[in-house]
Amino acid sequence: MESAIPSHLTTTRCRHRRVDDDYKPPYPSFVARHGAGVSRVVMAYFGVQYRAETAAAPPSTSDFMTLVSRADGPSHWDLAHHVDQAGCANDVFVAYWDDVLRFDSWFEPARLAWTGSGAEGSGRFIEVLRPAIERYETLFSSLGRPEGIAVIAEGMSGEVLEHAYWGGMRDRIPLSQTNEMRSLGKPTLLQDGPRLRVIAQDNLCMIRSGQDWSDTDAAERRMYLDDVEPVLREGMDFLRDQGISIGCYANRYMRLRGTDGVLTEKSYGQSWWQSLSALERWAESHPTHVRIFGAAMKYLSSLGPAAKLRLYHEVTVAAADEQFFEYVGCHAKTGMLAAVS
Ligand code: HEM
Repeated sequence: MESAIPSHLTTTRCRHRRVDDDYKPPYPSFVARHGAGVSRVVMAYFGVQYRAETAAAPPSTSDFMTLVSRADGPSHWDLAHHVDQAGCANDVFVAYWDDVLRFDSWFEPARLAWTGSGAEGSGRFIEVLRPAIERYETLFSSLGRPEGIAVIAEGMSGEVLEHAYWGGMRDRIPLSQTNEMRSLGKPTLLQDGPRLRVIAQDNLCMIRSGQDWSDTDAAERRMYLDDVEPVLREGMDFLRDQGISIGCYANRYMRLRGTDGVLTEKSYGQSWWQSLSALERWAESHPTHVRIFGAAMKYLSSLGPAAKLRLYHEVTVAAADEQFFEYVGCHAKTGMLAAVS
């Protein structure tokens, strides 16, 4: 059993972990491990928004492929799809780097191509976090198929201690050893011609929480699709439609597309939160998540490594200067625009 916080990021605590060293989680989980030389990562969401009833989606994939093939492009990217509360379809490309200098040299022309003059005919957005490595955590219920930021990590940990209890997420974030990560200020809107930029606050929080049922056999698949997924969807709809009342600015419940563009048996919820504590409160108190958390705990504890449903998440608490949000031609409830509309 090892700590989710790697030894080179372990520091003298002034804030306590919720569990002691002799705590034994009821099932195994793992975290992504970066090399000690990685001090910052970049998670960049590039979205295109169009009317869902449009027969053909705008040619965003070819535009994005052109961008990522340029020098210093991302080490990994994926594409997901959802129809939002305004009835708009959104294709969201997420690109990952572990070298911020490479990202910086790539980003400015890519940004101009995405939200600049080439964006006519559809809405476009860019949402970027570039957190110091101390400001984010990951969690995987099984090994062998990294997703999101973990794809560009050096590898995965062995079984970690800090999970399967409320507060585990906070305890896995290295900064939590010394910092409460309280959220300060309010997001504001800045208009730059047709482009709208949201200047968010210190310690804004983001979660990407994924589900992969592609390997499940008939019984496990039925359990997931009939019993768990409808409850998850209810929770995702709540966050999308009423989240603002509890500190969730925006939520997208998306299906990943394969390299051929076809929807896969993988989904993820991605949401923007006023603070880590607002996300904690939802996770531990909202009836939907409490239900699926309890069901998953029971199920993972009894099935152990035989479980074929894969769950993972990545959570970031970003400093004010680690964020960038830009929207053009999108409706007012898109992403962080919802926080200022
Ligand atoms: C089928 C879908 C899901 C299932 C079965 C599920 C189940 C779980 C389980 C078992 C844990 C504890 C993990 C551990 O520490 O070992 C957990 C933690 C958590 N989940 Fe989910 N979850 C799902 C989807 C989501 C989504 C979509 C979100 C948010 C958008 C979310 C937010 C969280 C948060 C914030 C925690 C950390 C709580 C803490 O450590 O204090 N979950 N979930």
